[in-house]
Parts: sequence; C-alpha cells; structure tokens
Amino acid sequence: MEMRFERNILCIGAGYVGGPTMAMIAYKCPQYKVTVADVDHERIAQWNSDDLPIYEPGLDEIVKVARGRNLFFSTDIEHGIKEAELIFVSVNTPTKTFGAGAGMAADLQYWEKTARQICQCAEAPKVIVEKSTLPVRTALAMERILTSNDSGIHFDVLSNPEFLAEGTAIRDLEDPDRVLIGSRLTESGLKARDELVEIYANWVSRERILTSDTWSSELSKLAANAFLAQRISSINSVSALCERTDADISEVAKAVGMDSRVGSKFLNASVGFGGSCFKKDILNLVYLCRNYGLNEVANYWESVVQMNEYQKERFVLNMMTAMFNTLAGKGICLFGFAFKANTGDTRESAAIFIAKRLIEEKAELVVTDPKALENARIDLRGIDGDVSYVDDPYEAAAGCHAIALVTEWDLYRDLDFEKIYRSMMKPAFIFDGRNILDHRRLFEIGFNVFPIGKPPLTHF
Ligand code: UDX
Repeated sequence: MEMRFERNILCIGAGYVGGPTMAMIAYKCPQYKVTVADVDHERIAQWNSDDLPIYEPGLDEIVKVARGRNLFFSTDIEHGIKEAELIFVSVNTPTKTFGAGAGMAADLQYWEKTARQICQCAEAPKVIVEKSTLPVRTALAMERILTSNDSGIHFDVLSNPEFLAEGTAIRDLEDPDRVLIGSRLTESGLKARDELVEIYANWVSRERILTSDTWSSELSKLAANAFLAQRISSINSVSALCERTDADISEVAKAVGMDSRVGSKFLNASVGFGGSCFKKDILNLVYLCRNYGLNEVANYWESVVQMNEYQKERFVLNMMTAMFNTLAGKGICLFGFAFKANTGDTRESAAIFIAKRLIEEKAELVVTDPKALENARIDLRGIDGDVSYVDDPYEAAAGCHAIALVTEWDLYRDLDFEKIYRSMMKPAFIFDGRNILDHRRLFEIGFNVFPIGKPPLTHF
C-alpha cells in the first residue's frame, strides 16, 4: 500500500502555515504521501472534518481533493517521523513572554522539543526543513540537537521560509513570487537542497526557486517582513501629516508609488498593521541586532513598530476629539475585527487595541465581522466593559453613535448606508480606518466622515 508513493513527507505543526502549505504540496504532487501531524487532537480532528480550523479562500477545495488520497492529518508524530524522509517543522515561535528577551525574542521551546523528538524517533537519515520563522542561525542549533544522538544518524537542516499571506495563502502557494531554500553548501547539504527543489519544481518554475546559504535564507524572511511593515509605517506616518495639512494620503501614495523604484503595493494607509508576523518578526530582528551590539540598526527597525502603535492610538484619539471629547456611554460599532480582510484571524489586529481603548473610555461596543466574531470574543474575554457581538452589520450599527471601520471586508463597501444612517443616533459618525468607503456619498447621506490621512467631511 505505502509503496505506491514516491516519497513520504511529514509536517510537524498543523497551523496557518503547515496546513495550507502541505495541502498544496499534496494537491500538486499525488505521487507523494504528505502527513500533517500535531499534538493538538482537536485541531487534527478539525482538519479531518468538513469544518477546517482556518478560513482561507480555496483551501477547502484543495483539501477535499487530496485528503485521504495522499494528504493525511494525524496526531501520531512519532510514527510520522519514522516514516518520513523529509520533515517540515512548522511549529509556532511566538514572542517570548518571560525571562531574557521577553516581549522581543522568539520563544523557541516548541521548536526545540520538536527537534529532540525527531532525534529520538528517527531510525534513518532525514532532511529537516525549517518552515517556522526563526532567528538567524537557528538551523545551527537544530543541527546540534539533532547530531547529539548516539545513533550516528545524519540529518540535513534546510531553511525554507514561507512568504504566504493570509487570505491569499492558496494563490501565494500556487503561484509564489519566489520559493527560497537555504542549505549548507556541503555535498550533503546541496543534495538535500536539490531534493526540496524537486518537490517545488512540480508546479513552480525553476527561475522562481532561489537557493542560498542557510543564514541568508533565515535572515531574508525577517528582512522581507520588516521591509513590508516599514512601507506601511512610512505611509501611516505621512497620513498623520496629511490630516494636519489637508493633503490627501491617497494622492500622495499614488504619486509616490508610481515611481517604479518604489512601486505601488503596500502603500495603503490604515489603522495599523496586524497579523501574527510583522510585529513578531521585527521585534525578533531588533533583538538580534541588540544582541550583536548593533543598537542603531535595532532602533531603526523598532521605530517601525512604534509608528504602528502610534497610528492605532491616533485613531482612537481622533474619534474622541471628533465626538466632543467623550465616548462614555456612546455606542460604537466596529466594522471588522480580523487583522485584514478574507481571514478570521485576529492575531495582533488593530481592532483588539482599539476595542480595549474604547472600553477604557467607557464606550458601549458592538463588534461585527463576517468571519472573526468567535476570535473577537476570545480576544476580549475577561475585559470588564459593555461589548456585544452581532453578525449582521445593519443590526450592529443600529442605535450607535459611530461606526469605526477596522477591517477592509468587501461587504462593507456595498452596504445600504442610507438605511444604516436612519438607524443610528445623530450626529452620526464614520471613521474609515481603511479608506475603502465612498466618503463624499456618506457625507451627502448625513454622516460626519473621518478617513485616514484625508480632510474630514463634517456637517458642523
Ligand atoms: C505577512 C507577509 O505579507 C507574508 O509574506 C508573510 O509570510 C507573513 O506576514 P500577513 O500577515 O498574512 O502576511 O498579511 P499582510 O497582507 O502582509 O498584511 C499585514 C497587515 O498589514 C494587515 O493588518 C494589513 O491589513 C496591513 N496592511 C497591508 C496595511 O495596513 N496596508 C497595506 O498597504 C498592506
């Protein structure tokens, strides 16, 4: 039965990266057996059900095709390790919450446990692929742990950072800008690298498969995320100046982005970036720089995170100022809670910060989101305040004094705002934290409109 597969691939960690990435490999390569293993029984049961643990457009379809054919989800990590020739490690590496480097460095405990488990269970040589984002030179530590066994089994460790973005994961995996594979430049390292190249070459053109040394590959992931986040903080910093000078951030972003050296993507001013990667990876970079005594470099990158915190706080303060310096007892409806559209993920979402601040100001909060209400409830659990969760945006906004649009869901563009306006307290306010609404039209309906980085449209 097992003989029908050319290769056995295991991925340890069934999260946002491991699940979709392995689903894509299995979907594209029916000749390989792909197993995703995790210690979390509930998560694995969900992967085996019709209700997958993450929402990602297109994911259900590819899982349906491959699951049971050559894609398997299991909690038996030991068996998986024994069986596989190639093991992806995609366990989470959150920011450390304790001890040295707390709040900055990556917490590598899950990852190290996994390395030790591989070492204990392996009976034959294997290629280990770092999928999790890790500090530079982690592969070296992994090699040391793996070679500390007495059995003399040889392991090659590759770095293969994942660049997929949530909400577009399937498209990014199917048609990536690039796949990056870092290896040792030894004979056995290069051989391991070529094995992984062959897997991706099943559907990615060779020119897009980059290879490098391990340390460059590890650092590239941190640098790529830092550059992307930096663009957002840069445009957000200019949005603050626009609001003081009556300039329009959309015009500025367009003019700047049309310079082909700059490029137009990732220049949308917003309520602040969120997501599991940007802040974590930048802080990780900052910690590494400090560790190597590069304080100026550390400060430079840290300011990207500081600008993002400032943008979130600024959004709340703008609301306060516009609404006559008090939010106490006022109904405020958050349109969106996810950190971006097309995902139910709320990790580091600006919405969490904003919701907490509004509650501090004693506002009455109504949260609506098409996919993230369950997570919103978890994020705000235990917080003392008046919060309700409502699926329907019309119902959510009814009776409120203001709407704060936090996530750029398409559905918010097409709502009947006349109907919403009629149902709200007056004067009614809209704070468009994503600049996706038709501000002039909203103003004509009667709203007082506060975009990001543009002059407000008010009736006062
Ligand atoms: C990011 C990287 O894009 C991806 O390559 C990496 O693998 C993981 O981290 P992700 O966090 O899923 O992906 O989402 P991304 O699309 O990058 O958005 C991050 C945050 O920035 C979101 O909150 C988004 O709304 C915000 N953003 C993005 C802006 O505020 N303005 C923009 O112009 C773009």
